[in-house]
Amino acid sequence: MNLQIAYIAAAALGRVSSFTPSTISTARQTIFRSASSSTTSTLNMSSEDTITLGIFGGGTVGGGIVEILSNKADYFKQLTGKSIEVKKVCVRDASKPRDFTLPEGCSIVTSYDDILNDDSIDVAVEVMGGTTDAKDVVVGALTNGKSVVTANKALIAKDLPEIETLLSTLESGTQFRYEAAVCGGIPIIRSMQSDFVGDNIQLMCGIINGCTNFMLTAMDRDKKSYDEALSEASALGYAEADPTLDVGGFDARSKLKILMRLAYGMNVEEDEISCRGITELTKMDFEYAKMLGGTIKLLGVAEKNDAGDVSAYVAPCYVTNEDALSSVNGATNAIEVLSDNLVSSIYIGQGAGRYPTANSCINDIVALAKGDQNLLPFNPTSETKFVNNYESVFYLRLNYRDQVGITRQVGEVCEKHGVSIHSILQNPVAKNQESAFAIVTDKVDYAAILKVLADVEALSWCKGKPFYMPVLRDDWQN
Ligand SMILES: NC(=O)c1ccc[n+]([C@@H]2O[C@H](COP(=O)([O-])OP(=O)(O)OC[C@H]3O[C@@H](n4cnc5c(N)ncnc54)[C@H](OP(=O)(O)O)[C@@H]3O)[C@@H](O)[C@H]2O)c1
Repeated sequence: MNLQIAYIAAAALGRVSSFTPSTISTARQTIFRSASSSTTSTLNMSSEDTITLGIFGGGTVGGGIVEILSNKADYFKQLTGKSIEVKKVCVRDASKPRDFTLPEGCSIVTSYDDILNDDSIDVAVEVMGGTTDAKDVVVGALTNGKSVVTANKALIAKDLPEIETLLSTLESGTQFRYEAAVCGGIPIIRSMQSDFVGDNIQLMCGIINGCTNFMLTAMDRDKKSYDEALSEASALGYAEADPTLDVGGFDARSKLKILMRLAYGMNVEEDEISCRGITELTKMDFEYAKMLGGTIKLLGVAEKNDAGDVSAYVAPCYVTNEDALSSVNGATNAIEVLSDNLVSSIYIGQGAGRYPTANSCINDIVALAKGDQNLLPFNPTSETKFVNNYESVFYLRLNYRDQVGITRQVGEVCEKHGVSIHSILQNPVAKNQESAFAIVTDKVDYAAILKVLADVEALSWCKGKPFYMPVLRDDWQN
């Protein structure tokens, strides 16, 4: 690698803001470490019959990768013609006990440079998480000519365009693989890269966050409170270190953004995608969902409209009991893809956990050992436009103080914004102060629903923000 490429890559990743000798020098020292090492490591694989790994992270996923590689070493050698050797595992605290056995000749290190500057290491596996240091090690490894395997959806979603720009500057043979980053063990990335090349995807909708699906199952089926469901999910290791990422829908949105890049060739800023989590859901919403013959799932949805533009959102959605997604319970993930040729394909499996996630990383590592090429890890780009509006049937729940004329006023507001009401639901009222009724609309614009909600909230009897959610299918009544 020459200095110019180092700069392009650093600038692309936003690490160097202007082209001055001092910033180039800083970039080289802090990120790229050695200008000569990349050339050497790109051209010299560690040996003809060995592929050597440095793993950043020796936790849940990292430990699983080491275990599977040890257990299936002979099989992988037959499959790929190479020994896959883990040379170094980089962790934060070297003295911490590990729940996996280090293979012979493998050392625990704490400095990124021990892997980044080791020319005998061909592949960097980034399973430490985060978006700052993880970015440095991914950039450093790629720039030093090492292929990268990562499970880090947050990093990819945040820096996707920059990562793509960096990849375009690299020498061929340096690959970026990230199967584990979306839906853990489900091979959805590979499918998006290879199984829809002759197809046109119209809709993707999925349960792409295991923690919230576990919680919604516990709240609906097991009648747990929100707090009970969250602490159970945390105790079982389903929640992120910061559970806001799960319950706020942000983790699902990161994954949806990556899937949209693959399915539609588009790069959407994450915060352009409307994102609502499960925190506003109440017991009453589950009761109304049951009355309607369905349940509630937190979904990531991206859909092409008649003009060919794509809209997307993460939100709790009403799904009928006949819908395949309604019976996907616990921490399981599922994605349905509707497309012109394949019509409907559904992928269901474990979205997280040591072995499902490590399994996806292993598939990437084995693909590299076999010499499989992956020229465009994110598929070709397209001019597809993102629109922040979509049509759907909506469920609205309105909390009210009892008074005369409430339904008439709601009807007037809906009429004003062209929203047609399909039905009104009301449970027996236990206490006047907790009264709420629900409305199901006909298919309308999301923008019109937002106007209805704003107007209704301003009415004197309306208590707090009305809750709303899309109904997943147009044919929800059949
Ligand atoms: N767990 C899952 O089910 C799952 C599923 C899909 C994707 N992922 C992704 O996989 C990645 C890893 O997740 P995980 O569950 O394996 O995390 P984890 O159990 O917390 O392990 C993280 C590992 O990285 C090391 N580490 C963290 N920060 C570091 C730093 N600054 N320098 C050196 N080492 C550092 C830690 O070292 P110490 O052990 O010394 O603290 C630990 O060994 C994340 O990007 C996550 O989003 C995980």
